[in-house]
Amino acid sequence: MQKNLLSVINEAGSFLLEREGAAPRIALILGSGLGELAEEAEDKRVIEYKEIPGFPVSTVQGHKGRLVFGKMGGKRVVFMQGRFHYYEGYNMKEVAFPIWVFNFLGIKKLIVTNAAGGINTSFKPGDLMIIKDHINYTNNNPLIGPNLEALGPRFPDMSAAYSNELIEIVRECAYSNGIRLQEGNYLFLTGPSYETPAEIRAFRILGADAVGMSTVPEVLAANHCGIETVGISCITNMAAGILDAPLNHKEVMETAERVKGDFSKLIKSVVEKMEV
Ligand code: HPA
Repeated sequence: MQKNLLSVINEAGSFLLEREGAAPRIALILGSGLGELAEEAEDKRVIEYKEIPGFPVSTVQGHKGRLVFGKMGGKRVVFMQGRFHYYEGYNMKEVAFPIWVFNFLGIKKLIVTNAAGGINTSFKPGDLMIIKDHINYTNNNPLIGPNLEALGPRFPDMSAAYSNELIEIVRECAYSNGIRLQEGNYLFLTGPSYETPAEIRAFRILGADAVGMSTVPEVLAANHCGIETVGISCITNMAAGILDAPLNHKEVMETAERVKGDFSKLIKSVVEKMEV
């Protein structure tokens, strides 16, 4: 993919621009169980990933595979309803590919969301957590390989990967909507197996508050090409070994379903407050 990466990005982006005309400036990636938010957009236009030249196709249960263009909080936005996961067998560049297409479209701000397991014992399932920073625990990175100077620098700075300005907006919006908001560090693993209790104890010592199988590849790509990013995790379950109960995907989906009201309220008011 690397050799032709720029031309594939350009092809996908040109296709979308032709279909959409001018593109929005804000993109949102909707995580497991959180995809329904896109249904609340106004003037929706849906483009299935499989229609877009060069776009991978999503396979995970509970994820749709489409872009939804529309309006939310008075602003034009594009949603990714369904993302690509490394554990599905995509390589890191495929996982990050939509970000590069967003960059081509002129997207300036990105809201990433995900379902995550809570490591911090003060969290409860159903909490929303602002991602202050992340730990990439995969030894992989979508930027490995020849650097595409047209996109960004060889050695991108990651010292403020999650925009302080956008974090402050999320805090204000949570407060004004009466939504309890946790804050913490998100640790990224490949999955697809959930972690062992010993791993979770180790990750707590490393400074992780939540753990999940997504988000970091997209955030790496977004920082590389200068898209301002903010991330929100839905703590769908406590991580392995914290409660005396096995983990399963059903619980993840059920908790996401339960908090989708607060989640939508928060995201809508954040979009409304964002300056673009
Ligand atoms: N671990 C990893 N990924 C997750 C979890 C978890 O406990 N919950 C939701 N996504």
